[in-house]
Amino acid sequence: MEKKEQLYEGKAKKVYATDDPQKLIVSYKDDATAFNGLKKGTIVGKGVINNRMSNLLMQKLEKEGIPTHFIEELSDRDTLVKKVSIVPLEVIIRNISAGSFAKRYGVEEGIVFDEPTIEFSYKNDALGDPLINEYHALALKLATKEEIETIKKYAFGVNDQLKKFWSGCGVTLVDFKLEFGKVEDGSIVLADEISPDTCRLWDSATGEKLDKDRFRRDLGGVEDAYAEVMKRLEEHI
Ligand code: TMP
Ligand code: ASP
Repeated sequence: MEKKEQLYEGKAKKVYATDDPQKLIVSYKDDATAFNGLKKGTIVGKGVINNRMSNLLMQKLEKEGIPTHFIEELSDRDTLVKKVSIVPLEVIIRNISAGSFAKRYGVEEGIVFDEPTIEFSYKNDALGDPLINEYHALALKLATKEEIETIKKYAFGVNDQLKKFWSGCGVTLVDFKLEFGKVEDGSIVLADEISPDTCRLWDSATGEKLDKDRFRRDLGGVEDAYAEVMKRLEEHI
């Protein structure tokens, strides 16, 4: 399958049309942004790692019964996916306090929750992706009640699977962000990506951050951290 016209360029990926109107090609870039695009940089080799990692994890999730947009990896940066209409919600699951949760509620990072939490942000760059609840999402007609129920079921299912998998790699899954889309028949599938850009991953033994927080917080060693989690994933998948 070949790339036709570019349909969209996001912060970390480009999206191309193909000959099949129901299939798209996503191409992963090395560009990194944080704080709604305010901070910009490059993480060398990130596109290759995120493409591979996201594809391996989505194939794993498919086997566990969670439908995804993944069709086929085409090259080290390019993947064929199902065309979806993205549900404009960022779905965030947390197992441990960190990031905006710690800041918003005035708690330290690293508190292990008894149960995972879920929250939604309205995916809207102009508004800075504001936090919303399910009632707001319904009022704004971002999704139906049934779709939100399905999204929650899949999101917690992803957490169960990925927490277990990463734990076997000596990596703690702190939190992550998912996006879902609707395919032609209206059914919900997991879309976007699952990578160190969209997950917080801490070394289980040392607590070292192995994700995009190294870029967000200028901790250094970003490329090495991405390479380290990728290596552990490939050893255990
Ligand atoms: P947060 O603590 O900043 O709200 O982030 C929660 C998780 O979501 C974290 O794993 C990083 C991820 N995330 C994204 O993938 N994209 C974003 O734009 C933001 C703000 C967070
Ligand atoms: N990618 C997001 C942005 O640039 C934020 C983040 O991942 O921290 O806004």
